[in-house]
Amino acid sequence: MLANQSIGYMDAPVPKGLDLKEAISRLKKEKNAVILAHYYQTEEIQDTADFVGDSLALAQWATKTKANILVLCGVHFMGETAKILCPDKKVLVPDLNAGCSLADSCPAPEFERFVKEHPDHTVISYVNTSAAVKALTDVVVTSTNARQIVESFPKETPIIFGPDRNLGSYINRVTRRDMLLWDGACHVHERFSLEKILELEERYPDAKVVTHPECKKEVVEISDFVGSTAALLKYTVQSEARRFIVATESGVIYEMRKRSPEKEFIPAPPSDGACACNECNFMRQNTMEKLYNCLRFEMPEIFVDEEIRKKAIKPIQRMLEISERLHL
Ligand code: 13P
Ligand code: SF4
Repeated sequence: MLANQSIGYMDAPVPKGLDLKEAISRLKKEKNAVILAHYYQTEEIQDTADFVGDSLALAQWATKTKANILVLCGVHFMGETAKILCPDKKVLVPDLNAGCSLADSCPAPEFERFVKEHPDHTVISYVNTSAAVKALTDVVVTSTNARQIVESFPKETPIIFGPDRNLGSYINRVTRRDMLLWDGACHVHERFSLEKILELEERYPDAKVVTHPECKKEVVEISDFVGSTAALLKYTVQSEARRFIVATESGVIYEMRKRSPEKEFIPAPPSDGACACNECNFMRQNTMEKLYNCLRFEMPEIFVDEEIRKKAIKPIQRMLEISERLHL
């Protein structure tokens, strides 16, 4: 992953008293760079980015920008997806160690064996995967389009769905299918405590529980609304409810509050620890200092092996084409 890059650059000292937001904006102009950030980034990073979105929107945006440099404030697979789509651009991530437990739960050699054992199956993979897993895939999905893409295949089509067992079993339930699931999961979304959510519901009976489908079935089943980051945001804006218990990474609450300042958002607590909210430790490895250094040194850069890239781009483009057709 580090490809001969010294990650010491990431932690290079930043001049004392420097206005980071201003310095980042200056470097961005000088270098014709854009900053794309996921909603799970810190508030400061979201405020500094040119574009903030969910996984699907970040991929869609990457294909449209004319900038020479893309800085992906998210995790490694998001940078890889941008690089696969834009091989001629320099794609940077503030911290190359920002991985993803879900992507890591699906090593490519094991997934390849699984796929080979079921040669008649169409392979649908969540975007939270390595480039090598995407290269073994027929169509990539994100949580925003997974249901519609699965439903675009005839019901009798045998499908392998990986790597998220929770998203996969949720889609199996809502589409009444029996896709073969890879046994992976996101440690953040699996960590929500049903008991603590039920306690919050008792305390705030008017609140709606809104949940990402990467959460466990028991949490999904007691929720008022289940959807991707983009769908949760839309729901909280359109709903007449004034209060929401939010069972997804708590970074998205920043945007929820911006869009609906009159409403109250309560982060659903994880089962472990005293903390009331649930943050992705990988996403939170990116900081304003690292973002500044990344633009300053144009490192760390994402590289994808060209053979893998040529295979991986096909299922991503297929996803983007279907999403465009469905206006997602
Ligand atoms: P979305 O951005 O597709 O909702 O995915 C959530 C997630 O866990 C990203 O890592
Ligand atoms: Fe991966 Fe989960 Fe973090 Fe998203 S929240 S980047 S799926 S570990």
